Amino acid sequence: MATVNKKQLYIESYGCAMNFADSEVVATIMAENGYATTNDEHDADIVFINTCSIRDNAEQRIRNRLTQLRGNKKRNNELIVGILGCMAERLKDKLMEEEKLVDIVVGPDAYRDLPGLVAEVDDGAKAINVLLSLEETYAEITPTRLNSNGVTAFISIMRGCDNMCSFCVVPFTRGRERSRDPQTIVREARELFEAGYKEVTLLGQNVDSYLWYGGGPKKDFKKLTDEEREHAVDFAKLLEMVAQIDPSLRVRFSTSHPKDITDDVLYAMAKYENVCNYIHLPAQSGNSRILDKMNRTYDREWYMQKVERIREIIPDCAISCDIIAGFCTETEEEHKDTLSLMEWSQFDFSYMYYYSERPGTLAARKFADDVPLDVKKRRLTEIIDLQNEISRKKNKAREGQVVTVLVEAESKRSKDDWMGKCDQHIVTIFPKENYKKGEYVDVIIEKSTTTSLIGKAVGLNKTMNGIQIEEEAVNL
Ligand code: SAH
Ligand code: SF4
Ligand code: F3S
Repeated sequence: MATVNKKQLYIESYGCAMNFADSEVVATIMAENGYATTNDEHDADIVFINTCSIRDNAEQRIRNRLTQLRGNKKRNNELIVGILGCMAERLKDKLMEEEKLVDIVVGPDAYRDLPGLVAEVDDGAKAINVLLSLEETYAEITPTRLNSNGVTAFISIMRGCDNMCSFCVVPFTRGRERSRDPQTIVREARELFEAGYKEVTLLGQNVDSYLWYGGGPKKDFKKLTDEEREHAVDFAKLLEMVAQIDPSLRVRFSTSHPKDITDDVLYAMAKYENVCNYIHLPAQSGNSRILDKMNRTYDREWYMQKVERIREIIPDCAISCDIIAGFCTETEEEHKDTLSLMEWSQFDFSYMYYYSERPGTLAARKFADDVPLDVKKRRLTEIIDLQNEISRKKNKAREGQVVTVLVEAESKRSKDDWMGKCDQHIVTIFPKENYKKGEYVDVIIEKSTTTSLIGKAVGLNKTMNGIQIEEEAVNL
């Protein structure tokens, strides 16, 4: 059947990987209702912007994008503009009042309602659904992979967050934490593998608190009934289930919370060659008083013990970090504690920000945002400079080593080179020769920069590519 006359949907995503994964669920819901996705916004009957509220500048970027979209709407009077995701959830109908071109506002748990909301707009109304849910995980919806390299894919394993870090807007925009049925996760990963994908990243705001007990809001393991407990699946178990799909399928996950990561998870990582040696373990600060004020529920020593434990159980495990500079009341000494924690931990890389007050959060209600902007920026620069120095040094130390790279795409800089990531999640570039996308290639590192390794292929990695080591034939 020809697919002519299908209506066209253009989706643009901002923010974290969970938002990008959600857009792929949205694409499936819309496809089932007669919409094909397009990469050309000017071709579209509907434009959806999946938004992020994590920092003020994330929201500003989206406001600027909406201003640009006014031109599209002028050219096409029928164009429907929908705001999805965290900013929709945070601002609700206010967003419609402030941004006149917006027709639909829909929060992260209401995507199944999108076809209905579009129908309301077709009837000449504006439409909104920002209800949060205690159960929704879109478990059985197979995401439509958008802008995919055909090699790596994200899989959402849980939604929401119950942690209430005082600086963070996510619990307000994404609602209560709930885990997705593990069978649907394994099925999705297996189908990806069968379709030629070689790497899945299991996604959640706090994957270590994943716990399936039959569905519904997060419960403490101790509070489960005997029956629930018998069938319960925690993150370590889920990781094993996904790792066992096939030894040639790489498994990654993000994000780990220092308060929740367990030895069981570390042992599972060590046991399976295809579970990558990489943990994103945000510290946020290196000072215990600030960590307490952030409501992170661990202190500097606890964090350091976790890093030590990781290095004990998985010696070549890369660790990355998130840091916030200039949180409320942070002194110069306390900032120095962050620098010294970074120095001690030797993170392979970090995502670094200065504190941005978010309306409605505990910190906004209770603490003054009292570190002046120029001080926040200066502290952030010191943090970034230090991280760059550490990353440069750590990558330099990999020169001469052989790493296994999963080829993802052509290098952006040269069509003669491949780009992929090594087990430790560091971007690695090497000449293509006859290697192909989706293959695991052993690469000897010859050069490095702050953000990447550069080398030359020495051959296919037999174990990860599932190549049998040939036994010599014996004729009796
Ligand atoms: N769930 C993850 C983090 C998700 S948000 C975790 O707990 O680690 C990603 C990062 O954005 C956070 O780790 C934090 O470093 C940063 N962030 C969150 N809120 C922020 C704020 N108000 N100002 C600056 N950075 C913030
Ligand atoms: Fe935000 Fe904390 Fe939840 Fe991460 S764990 S999403 S920082 S509240
Ligand atoms: Fe942003 Fe929402 Fe993710 S606020 S970081 S898109 S959960």
